[in-house]
Amino acid sequence: MAQRTVYLETFGCQMNELDSELVAGQLRALGYSFTTDPERADVVLYNTCSVRERAEQKVWSRLGELRVRKAEQPGLVVGVLGCLAERDGVDLIKRMPVVDIMCGPGELDKLPSLLDNAVRTRESFVADSPADPDPDVGDRVRLRSASQVALQGNTSRRSATLAAAEDSLELLDLSRSISPTDHGGTAYVRITRGCNKFCTYCVVPFTRGAEIHRPPEHIIDECKRLADAGVIEITLLGQTVNHYRFEQDAAVIVNGLTQPQKGRAYSPSSGAGHRADPFRGAGVTTFADLLARIHDEVPAIERLRFVTSYPRDFGDDVLQVIRDHPRICRYLHVPAQTGSDRMLKMMNRGYSVSEYLEFLDRARAFLDQPEIGRPLMVSGDFIVGFPTETDEDFEASVALVRRARYKNSFIFKYSPRPGTVAFDKIPDDVPEEVKRRRNNTLLAAQSAISDEIAREQVGRTFNVMIEGVSKQQLKRHGVSQGEIRRQNAITLTVGGKGIGADVGDCGSGCSPVHGGEAPTAGQATEPSETVQLSGRTDGDLIVFVDAPGATATSMIGRILPVCVTSADKLVMRGSLAGV
Ligand code: SAH
Ligand code: SF4
Ligand code: F3S
Repeated sequence: MAQRTVYLETFGCQMNELDSELVAGQLRALGYSFTTDPERADVVLYNTCSVRERAEQKVWSRLGELRVRKAEQPGLVVGVLGCLAERDGVDLIKRMPVVDIMCGPGELDKLPSLLDNAVRTRESFVADSPADPDPDVGDRVRLRSASQVALQGNTSRRSATLAAAEDSLELLDLSRSISPTDHGGTAYVRITRGCNKFCTYCVVPFTRGAEIHRPPEHIIDECKRLADAGVIEITLLGQTVNHYRFEQDAAVIVNGLTQPQKGRAYSPSSGAGHRADPFRGAGVTTFADLLARIHDEVPAIERLRFVTSYPRDFGDDVLQVIRDHPRICRYLHVPAQTGSDRMLKMMNRGYSVSEYLEFLDRARAFLDQPEIGRPLMVSGDFIVGFPTETDEDFEASVALVRRARYKNSFIFKYSPRPGTVAFDKIPDDVPEEVKRRRNNTLLAAQSAISDEIAREQVGRTFNVMIEGVSKQQLKRHGVSQGEIRRQNAITLTVGGKGIGADVGDCGSGCSPVHGGEAPTAGQATEPSETVQLSGRTDGDLIVFVDAPGATATSMIGRILPVCVTSADKLVMRGSLAGV
């Protein structure tokens, strides 16, 4: 087979980003090469998201654009991977005949063989199909060929073959190829797949299947291999990441590998006083145990994070482990979704507002230590306009945003998703205009809090993980982070486009500057002395740091002390302490 060039675009959450990385590694090992230019690809893959209608629309419009291209380039192979593929099923191919491959998130280990089949099928199909003189018929013929489909299907939760699917999916994570140059110092590691919570609005339990916990040995081994390749920050992933629990005795050994197991119905917070896991026994690894083990067994990992947490599953054991293990970050992403108990019930979230607040107070009592430079930062998610939401319900969400003091919140307008309980049982009765207004109001309330929190940090020095050149600067110069990362040279000139002089000087020293002017873009086209880097504190606050062009690339992927010098309009700027 001639070498194929793949364009892979990822939509949706971090779980999808990780899936794309794993898939790309696998395909690279098989000889496929990758391009960032879809026009140059023989294979176009979209790793899709289905969580809201808008996420799906982006993919539909991409597929629509490919129709013309495929009519002109019939050998082009198009694949839809991920949650949209799983949710829509084969109907998607009927609607979009450009699609050759569909592969759900639970079947990604099968992608190489699906792709190989699709490439061969299209090659022979193109060779066998003479162009039809009628352009419309010709197009239709050229678009259609046998499609390659791997989906778990709606029966996956009950299917006896599920275990086998999980086993090979585990191999996908285990076979991760880790490039020492491409990671920028940070990486995701999955600890749990799927979700069992069935919030009434959410597609994830249907697209990602049942909750399955990976064996701790596999996770720790992966962390060690990442550390060996130079990764210093790991983010553990799970839909309800803190619900992690692995029982050794329940695990099965197949072909010498410990196989993953499903979650057991259990909630640490149901124990008296949230003290310990009441069901804990020999051979059990709780989330607290896992965090402590990774921290202690992989010391080269300087930062350990985890997302997304479920408010009900935080026992004191987890909070203690975070407090007592210095390389675990003081950052929790704990979506509340709404501040109204009535809405929480309708959403099937399984907690009340007062339980949520009790958890937040407890977390802050354990973990908020600004005096040692480690304030606890919390972020949230909210849905506005869930069916029947009244002004009063909505005001309760505004009140919760103010009371919780999130550093930021992700705010979404309710989007009815086919297949969910809310879609089937509760009419989407909040008008779009009301949703939009509530979205803006909640955003404004959150922005005021975010601004206050940013200003509180001025004058403090934090260890900041330098992630790369700031997005604004990359955008202005049409350069990608990957291109920067691959340059070992200190010059930040890519494709003749210089990066530099348009960044203002954020001042020197560590003297607090409240509400400083945001730097304005200049006209420079020549590469120059200053590069604007962006990085994150342990609490996940984003800080911009100006660095001399001569040393900027060498700072990327490192944790450096930064003094926050100003905060304005949610933007925090700092300078390298001691530089
Ligand atoms: N597992 C995570 C969230 C996964 S989805 C958790 O439970 O916290 C990410 C976010 O998308 C959710 O927190 C929710 O705020 C939002 N979301 C999910 N389904 C949605 C829908 N149908 N409409 C609008 N927002 C939705
Ligand atoms: Fe969706 Fe709820 Fe599961 Fe999060 S916990 S993924 S919102 S069902
Ligand atoms: Fe989207 Fe699937 Fe993630 S629906 S948010 S890509 S789990």
